Amino acid sequence: MCGIFAYLNHLTPKTRKEVLDFLVNGLKRLEYRGYDSAGVAVDSADGNNMAIIKKSGKVQALEDEINSLASSLAFDTIMDCHVGIAHTRWATHGVPNAQNAHPQRSDTENTFCLVHNGIITNYKDIKLFLAKKGYTFESDTDTEIIAKLMLHIYKSHPQNTFQEIVEQCIQQLEGAFAVCFKSKLFPGECVASRRGSPLLVAIKTKTRLATDHIPILYGKDFRPHGGPATNETLTAASLMPRTPSTAEFQPMEEDKQVEYFFASDASAVIEHTNRVIFLEDDDVAAVKDGTLTIHRIRRNLDDPHAREITTIKMEIQQIMKGNYNSFMQKEIFEQPESVVNTMRGRMNFEGQSIILGGIKDYIPEIKRCRRLMLIACGTSYHSAVATRQLLEELTELPVMVELASDFLDRNTPVFRDDVCFFISQSGETADTLMALRYCKNRGALIVGVTNTVGSSICRESHCGVHINAGPEIGVASTKAYTSQFISLVMFGLVMSEDRISLQQRRKDIIQGLRQLEEQIREVLKLDSKVQELAKDLYKHKSLLIMGRGYNFATCLEGALKVKELTYMHSEGIMAGELKHGPLALVDETMPVIMIVTRDPVYNKCMNALQQVTAREGRPILICEKGDKETQEFASSILEVPHSVDCLQGILTVIPLQLLSYHIAVLRGCNVDCPRNLAKSVTVE
Ligand code: AGP
Ligand code: GLU
Repeated sequence: MCGIFAYLNHLTPKTRKEVLDFLVNGLKRLEYRGYDSAGVAVDSADGNNMAIIKKSGKVQALEDEINSLASSLAFDTIMDCHVGIAHTRWATHGVPNAQNAHPQRSDTENTFCLVHNGIITNYKDIKLFLAKKGYTFESDTDTEIIAKLMLHIYKSHPQNTFQEIVEQCIQQLEGAFAVCFKSKLFPGECVASRRGSPLLVAIKTKTRLATDHIPILYGKDFRPHGGPATNETLTAASLMPRTPSTAEFQPMEEDKQVEYFFASDASAVIEHTNRVIFLEDDDVAAVKDGTLTIHRIRRNLDDPHAREITTIKMEIQQIMKGNYNSFMQKEIFEQPESVVNTMRGRMNFEGQSIILGGIKDYIPEIKRCRRLMLIACGTSYHSAVATRQLLEELTELPVMVELASDFLDRNTPVFRDDVCFFISQSGETADTLMALRYCKNRGALIVGVTNTVGSSICRESHCGVHINAGPEIGVASTKAYTSQFISLVMFGLVMSEDRISLQQRRKDIIQGLRQLEEQIREVLKLDSKVQELAKDLYKHKSLLIMGRGYNFATCLEGALKVKELTYMHSEGIMAGELKHGPLALVDETMPVIMIVTRDPVYNKCMNALQQVTAREGRPILICEKGDKETQEFASSILEVPHSVDCLQGILTVIPLQLLSYHIAVLRGCNVDCPRNLAKSVTVE
């Protein structure tokens, strides 16, 4: 989610125009991480304040805005030492507009401002606390509370250094963040930190760096939250085994001219320098007088003494995609994190409770409705198919699942007491949006489930759930599917909170959700095995994927992935329907994948498996780890960990995402942009 970029030049004179160009170009490199609005903060032309420029839309819109302000920004002024921070946003809290774009500021004086990547899950509590102290807010973001909290801490402890204020501030934050601060009070200084979101510092000097590591300064364990810095803290830090001259990165005399870059990933800095430090969770990196220090509040036994300065040797394009060859592949491998982001701040695993902030006020109304309708297209539709059975069980309501395109062709009856869910990664799919308006006109309650805050579906819904999967660039949807799936499961859990008879079931599901991150990591280890299977399959014309019950959606979704990426024919077949026709397709040459897990329809799946093997079919099996009895009939097996039946589909779909990817590569297809398809289908 989102891109952070900051640039600090120390004794390396740059014109304001050069600085702004650096910032904007840095953002352009990061735009793939988020692109709904963007902003920069630099010193104002008179040097006494800050100029914060923000714009909704792509980075290009920000660049145009900056250029239109050329005269007031005094482009030609030369600055010896300066800090600029910049951001390209992928909204999670508050629609994408200039007000909600970052940098966010502490007050109209711009005492502190920051850019943030991630989600602050306790922002409401902090906001309430600050509101009671008289702070007012100008945006709907979670981020703004950080700026205000900085000011509050500063006012309480005006003697603290910039780095100490940040250190105290981040101790109050829960959730995931990478943050980078600029302050009017501390000119020429920049402080950054991270927890759960990536952040690096890059260093550029004229000559070779005198060191290849930055020692970490540890503070005192027991310093009270928000308490003033004490000599003790500083003493504790200096107790570290180090000589004063290597305690921080102090450039050598000839290296006093130094430039620092803070960025979400290396793609934004590689054109300037290849010397970077990847910060770890809870590191606070501060630059003052051209010197970089890295601080941590407390030291655990195994913590290292220093952070290494690494030399990166990758091409820009390569870095944007990490070690992956395509965005789709990257997004498949991001799923352990994206599923956690979907649950972040919503699932309380200890207390077994779930809060979906965007719909909580509507839950009583939803509980009174006469049916739930889940309406979507493509992959998003499959997430509805995947969760229908569970929603029926947990809500005890009739649940209809509808393709948005077909729904409108039928003049489907919709009533005031219906609740209609519109599921869409982009939030802009024309068919889904038309169906939404149709249902809204008939008085139904509209719930949006999207990955794009501020999208048309978001805006036109009465309430909704943001799936928080982060931007999905590959046309083929992967991580959005698993996050939609989880969002709908969480909705079911909310609806069943007070059902005594469902308590054990809920516990099992919550436990299952908790294990997903690790289990997805395990499934992803199948990658090389899947690649081998792809080598056997890629020359075939067709691929059938069979299953039933909770795994039927996986068959549909797997077949859609194969179709759109490899241009092979593929069909997701409900195993119960085999005898009614599809079995005629099966012979020893037809590639078949079957999904058989230990769920309530296991025996029926085994029957289907035997029907296939009796026709000389030798299916590839996706089954549970160690299930020897099932595996006997397979030509090859892909084992996934056992999960609770209704979540198993999250684990069984991933091998099929990987398989479609590898077949596409072997067939020479463009993985990220399959022919004839677009990421967002905004025409009917
Ligand atoms: C998924 O791989 C496809 N590209 C497509 O089916 C997609 O899911 C569908 O167009 C719906 O898009 P949405 O989720 O943005 O509404
Ligand atoms: N939660 C923040 C917001 O919505 C940051 C989102 C991001 O990572 O871009 O403003």
